[in-house]
Amino acid sequence: MRERSSFLRNRRSTSHAVRLPVDAFSIDRESREPIQQQIYTALRDLILRGVLTPGLKLPSSRELSRNILVSRNTVVRAYEQLNSEGYVETRHGAKTYVANIPPPSSSVTRQDMPEKTGHVSRFAHAFDTETRINFDADRSALRPSTPDIAVFPFKTWNRLLGRHLLHPNVDLFNYNYDLGYPPLQEAIARYVQAYRGVVCEPRQVVVTNGAQAALDLLSRILLEDGDVVWMEEPGYVNARLVFSAAGAEIEPLHVSEEGWELQSVPHGNVRLIYTTPSCQHPLGLSMRVEQRLRLLEIANRNAAWIIEDDFDSEYRLFGRSIPAMQGNDNFGLTIYVGTFAKTLFPAIRVGFMVVPQSICEQVKRAALYCGQQVSLPLQATLSDFIMNGHFASHLRRTRRLYAERREAFLNFGQKYLSEWMEPFEADVGIQIAFRFKRPLDDVAIASKANDVKLNVIPLSRYYYREPVRGLLLGYAAIDERAMQSHLALLAEVIEKQAS
Ligand SMILES: Cc1ncc(COP(=O)(O)O)c(C=O)c1O
Repeated sequence: MRERSSFLRNRRSTSHAVRLPVDAFSIDRESREPIQQQIYTALRDLILRGVLTPGLKLPSSRELSRNILVSRNTVVRAYEQLNSEGYVETRHGAKTYVANIPPPSSSVTRQDMPEKTGHVSRFAHAFDTETRINFDADRSALRPSTPDIAVFPFKTWNRLLGRHLLHPNVDLFNYNYDLGYPPLQEAIARYVQAYRGVVCEPRQVVVTNGAQAALDLLSRILLEDGDVVWMEEPGYVNARLVFSAAGAEIEPLHVSEEGWELQSVPHGNVRLIYTTPSCQHPLGLSMRVEQRLRLLEIANRNAAWIIEDDFDSEYRLFGRSIPAMQGNDNFGLTIYVGTFAKTLFPAIRVGFMVVPQSICEQVKRAALYCGQQVSLPLQATLSDFIMNGHFASHLRRTRRLYAERREAFLNFGQKYLSEWMEPFEADVGIQIAFRFKRPLDDVAIASKANDVKLNVIPLSRYYYREPVRGLLLGYAAIDERAMQSHLALLAEVIEKQAS
């Protein structure tokens, strides 16, 4: 049992005895921390907090040991430690006084202190204005970008992971494979070659903590202050944030159902083009081949890099996914970014990039020194999952399931929402963008919907300059019953807001 010995209790003090606050000083006899250390820490903290002020005489070791019921030697050793570090000093024989160390800078307690007092860089401030949407605990209700975690084959996954943990290969548990774990590089290379038409060798694959980490790393590797990033509008907010944080100027590359507006290339030094050609985020459109070739030409003419963010294109309603643009790039300017957040589950935090040969080693080194390495046992499990065919089966199963759900969702959307909004003509991805048919405030509607646990996102959020108003809705993680009730509820919210 934890026994608390208050110094004030049983106190038979002398006139100079120090008054310690009740319970400021307690000994936990169950603790693994040695008692001598506990005494030392408690007194040191009281001195540092200014509770015990310079010049105060501490109780004698004999007195303290009696009061807190420990051996005198233990107290003596704690005092010696405090003495050797300069917190107390021994004067007049054996008497111990609090040393003259500077008082705390003010009477403000730690709790009252502002969280940040020192300088914070421009990089950190780049994220200040971005408001995060706080979704409800029932996260699946219409939340965009959310796969159905319930259908993930956790048993298989656990078996594969367990194999590595039960029969540990020392290689996986040490500082090995600094510049990439070859079996996973190989597995990913095979996957993107076969499914996405990416042209690469395994050594060009760099595994990161999700696609976002890849975007952050690339922004630091490729961009200088004032460089222009030509970025899709509407576009992926989190990509824009890291490009801005790296000091770039963002110029809009307008996207609509007519396609990508490639006529007006921005003036200035276009260093980077960010695009989601196989499943435009958030509209879900695909870029036609002539536009892809045109964009590659523009990149080549401007000596600009292209980041092709291919986060969601596995889920195409009809037919095979459209191959990646990287496969058309004869200039070696495209960096292909992928993620397992949608095909497996978001919290896996594994993404990757396929990097042109010319910067491959630099990117790997930057990843290493920026700490962008993914847990090796996790990488080993994922490579087994892919190589043993489980990834392909899971993709097949989820593609079928999400295609059924997409159709059902669009039908229910027509039934409940067609008075207010219509979907963009798109057939890829696990979310659907709708635009309002009349002037409505999508931010206010989304906020009211969030209040009733519907996790929708206003479409205007993805526009930097000239917003189109509507809502982005997720359909993949919910069954037909849930769809009906969520969409009926959403219709009520919109109706109330519109009237
Ligand atoms: C355009 C885009 N890229 C990438 C990602 C995935 O990033 P991560 O792997 O960091 O979860 C998302 C997630 O929603 C996305 O919308």
